[in-house]
Amino acid sequence: MKRYRAHIFVCQGKRCSGRGSERLLDALKEMVSSEGLKDEIRISKSGCLKVCKETDTEGELCPTVVVYPEGVWYRNISRDNIGDLFEEHIKNGRVMERFLHFKL
Ligand code: FES
Repeated sequence: MKRYRAHIFVCQGKRCSGRGSERLLDALKEMVSSEGLKDEIRISKSGCLKVCKETDTEGELCPTVVVYPEGVWYRNISRDNIGDLFEEHIKNGRVMERFLHFKL
């Protein structure tokens, strides 16, 4: 079995997918592939991570992305900032504070 150094979950629940999380999944896969990191980084879909339930409007924190092994939960990830998340967290190992929801 491969030993990945990071595992990224991209929520595909109703609220997140309504805000473009499927495109985030595709974008991340493309970045991992183009950087030659397929053996190091695993990307998975997840069901609703319940972050959308934390506000009255249900969805303003979506889409949600979680990165392990650090246990970092991000909110409001979009096509505009997924590249920054990849660069800052996945490539450089720094938590992207401006979209941090919480850290385990
Ligand atoms: S749909 Fe993504 S957190 Fe609920």
